[in-house]
Amino acid sequence: MTDTAIRKGLAGVVVDTTEISMVDEASNSLTYRGYPVQDLAASCTFEEVSYLLWYGELPTAGQLREFTARERANRALDRHTLDLLRRLPETAHPMDVLRTAISYLGADDPAEDDASVAANRAKAEAMLAKLPTVVAADHRRRRGLDPIQPDPGLGHAENFFHMCFGRVPEPEVVRCFEVSMILYAEHSFNASTFTARVVTSTLSDIYSSVTAAIGALKGSLHGGANEAVMHMLQEIGSAERASDWLDTALAEKRKIMGFGHRVYKHGDSRVPTMRAALDRMAALRGAEELMELYGALEAEMVARKGIHPNLDYPAGPAYHLMGFEVPTFTPLFVMARITGWTAHILEQQEANALIRPLSSYTGRERRPVPLPAQRL
Ligand code: ACO
Repeated sequence: MTDTAIRKGLAGVVVDTTEISMVDEASNSLTYRGYPVQDLAASCTFEEVSYLLWYGELPTAGQLREFTARERANRALDRHTLDLLRRLPETAHPMDVLRTAISYLGADDPAEDDASVAANRAKAEAMLAKLPTVVAADHRRRRGLDPIQPDPGLGHAENFFHMCFGRVPEPEVVRCFEVSMILYAEHSFNASTFTARVVTSTLSDIYSSVTAAIGALKGSLHGGANEAVMHMLQEIGSAERASDWLDTALAEKRKIMGFGHRVYKHGDSRVPTMRAALDRMAALRGAEELMELYGALEAEMVARKGIHPNLDYPAGPAYHLMGFEVPTFTPLFVMARITGWTAHILEQQEANALIRPLSSYTGRERRPVPLPAQRL
C-alpha cells in the first residue's frame, strides 16, 4: 500500500539498513563498524580507519602494510589529469575542480563500468590516494605555483602537507589534521552519502556516484558549512561583536553556520574530539582572540536558541590555523568522506533496490492543451 504521508527532507524516514556506521542521537554517539569514533581518533591512523570502513575490520600489521603500499603507489596524477586541472579557470571553486577531476578519472578508466566488488574497491582506493594530490595541485595553482610530486616515504596526512606547502609541519599539526579526517570519514545516510547511494541504485558507475556526492557536499547546509563558518567568524571579527551580530543574524532569520544538525539535537558526538584538536592548534599558533570569539558565539547560540555546534564549527577554524585557505576546507572534507561514500556505494550494490520515492502532486488540474491560435 502507498504511504501518502509527506516527510519533507525525508526527516525521520528510515530508508535502508547499514553495517557501516551508527549515529545514535539518544546516546549522542557515533560508531564506525562498532568502534566509537573518538576512540578511533585517539589511537588510529586515517589509513587504518579507511581500511576499517571498507573491509569491516581494522587491518592486521600485514594488511596495513599492503594497503599503505597500494595507497602510496596510487597517489600520482598522470600528465593528462594535470593538464586538465591547469586548463580549468583559476576562479573555479576547488569543489568544482574536484568534481571535474573525479568525473575525468572515470572517463579515463577503461574499467569504469566493471562493477565487481574487487574493481570498485580498487577504484575507491585509487580515489582516496589521488584526491589529496588533486586538492594540493589546485591549492598551489591558485597561488601560481607548480604541483609538488607525492612522497611515497610519507603517510597520507604528512604527504598532503608536503604536496600543499612543500614541507611537513609539526607532528601535532599533522595529528590534528588526521583526527579531522577520521571524524569526517563517515556519517551514515547524510545528504551526500545518500546522493551516492541513489546514483548507485540506478546501476551507474562508482565515479558518477562520487561526482554527484561531491556536488551534494558542496552546499552550505552540508559540507560547505566549514567554509561558511570561517567566513562568518571573519565577518564577526571579535568576541565583543558576537552578541550584536547574532541579534541581527537571527532577526534576519539567517542560519548560523556550524550550528544545528538533522540527527543530533543535543550536540554533535564528533565535536568534543575536534574541539580538543582545535584547542591544540590554537595553543600552537597563539590564536587567543579567535578562540574567544569561537567561545562567545557558541555560548550565545546555546543560551538563546539551545542549538549546539556541529563538526564544521571547530573544523573550520582548525583548518584555518593549519594554514589552509578557506575555499580548500570542503575539499578536505571530500578527502575524508571518500571512504564513507565508497563504503556505502559497495553496500548499496550488495543488496540493491532502485531508490525512487513518490511525490504528491499539487499543480494545476488536468486540462486540455490549447491550439496554437489560442496561445496569444
Ligand atoms: N541557525 C539558526 N537556526 C537554526 C539553525 C542554525 N544553524 N539550525 C536549526 N535552526 C532552527 C531552524 O530555523 C528551525 O527553527 P524553527 O522551528 O523556528 O523554524 C529549527 O532550528 C529546526 O531546524 P531545521 O532547519 O528544521 O533543522 P534541520 O534538521 O532541517 O536542519 C541543518 C539541519 C540543515 C544542519 C541546520 O541546522 C542548518 O542549516 N545548520 C547550518 C548549516 C550547517 O552548519 N551545516 C552543517 C551540517 S553538519 C555537516 O555537514 C558535518
